[in-house]
Amino acid sequence: MSGKVVLAYSGGLDTSVAIRWLKDNYDLEVVALTIDVGNERDFTAIKEKALKVGAVKAVVIDSKELFVNHFIFPALQADALYEGQYPLATALSRPLIGKLLVDVAREEGAAAVSHGSTGKGNDQVRIEVSVNALAPDLKIIAPAREWGMTREETIAYAERYDIPVPVTLSSPYSIDENLWGRSIECGVLEDPWVEPPEDAFAWTKSPKEAPDTPGYVEIGFEQGVPFAIDGKKMGGVMLIQTLSEMAGSHGVGRIDVLENRLVGIKSREIYEAPAAMVLLQAHQSLQAMTLSKEQMRFKQKVAIEYADLVYNGLWFTSLHEDLAACIQSSQRYVTGTVRLKLFKGACTVVGRKSPYSLYSYGLATYDKDDVFDQSAAAGFIHIWGLPVKTQAQIQGTGRLEKS
Ligand code: ARG
Repeated sequence: MSGKVVLAYSGGLDTSVAIRWLKDNYDLEVVALTIDVGNERDFTAIKEKALKVGAVKAVVIDSKELFVNHFIFPALQADALYEGQYPLATALSRPLIGKLLVDVAREEGAAAVSHGSTGKGNDQVRIEVSVNALAPDLKIIAPAREWGMTREETIAYAERYDIPVPVTLSSPYSIDENLWGRSIECGVLEDPWVEPPEDAFAWTKSPKEAPDTPGYVEIGFEQGVPFAIDGKKMGGVMLIQTLSEMAGSHGVGRIDVLENRLVGIKSREIYEAPAAMVLLQAHQSLQAMTLSKEQMRFKQKVAIEYADLVYNGLWFTSLHEDLAACIQSSQRYVTGTVRLKLFKGACTVVGRKSPYSLYSYGLATYDKDDVFDQSAAAGFIHIWGLPVKTQAQIQGTGRLEKS
């Protein structure tokens, strides 16, 4: 092959080695693309490193706003938690990376794109399905899936070509970070019986070390989108960063799961997602106040479908558009404020209010302000219980002894 390839470049060992490897094995000029999705890094240093190890060009794109507004907040409105536990931080960033790879490939007139994912994970699927959807003509090269090198061999390769091996390699974990969360894999975590060591965590204090007095936070939502913390309006990026600090300092947001990967592997995953877990909880409690019982129940089914779809790399699909439209519609009255208590690893909703609240004090109270007509209950029970009574009489439902 000849021409250019756009490589999604993190600055880590694998993608640095990939720059050299793509040149040697495919004879391609490498344009390194680094995407800022809120993973705090020195992007100038990453750019310099890409050029130093042989890229012809290094591009950094700040996509934090885009990531928050088009990926994170819609997933929050959807209540998206894969298998009920994982807020999908890594998964949500992949279609964005796919899209930007395509955009830059077009600008550069590249014939191919490339990424550093291995052949065992979900990320290769998410990126490649996205690229194929948007630009089926582009060739996709996945060096780490092709080269078959062990960690040691990769390091040796790097040393041979004078590619700096980061000191952070002493970290025994494989880590992916963005605004919505931090995913931690490998090392001792691969034994599902072993409790994650404290050094696996970076964003959350150990609940043992967390303050002895609880923290309180109020989150304002407008149609399912958070816009204020403690009455102070702020943009999404800042809001997530602020909340992440706050909740993390109280040890909130640690997740330890055994997860079903799309490629058929069960894997042990550790996540830190302080802001995500607080926002998801706050959002759900506001919905409990502003949606009907039936809307809530239907939305829970949609949430499962939506989370699976994101996890499985199907972002650029019509089904996604359909689900997103349904979710948007459900958020019309999800406006209000939620108050939460953060204390030693726990996050608890302690208050909620909304101008569209369906909670009626008059209906709920047992005090003198009661407006509920208790005498109407008798007729309701008569009719509600009719089929129950009928069946019990005819078929004897409810006998305790075995027939
Ligand atoms: N299991 C998670 C997922 O599939 C996290 C993946 C982490 N990726 C990584 N490159 N470390 O979304």
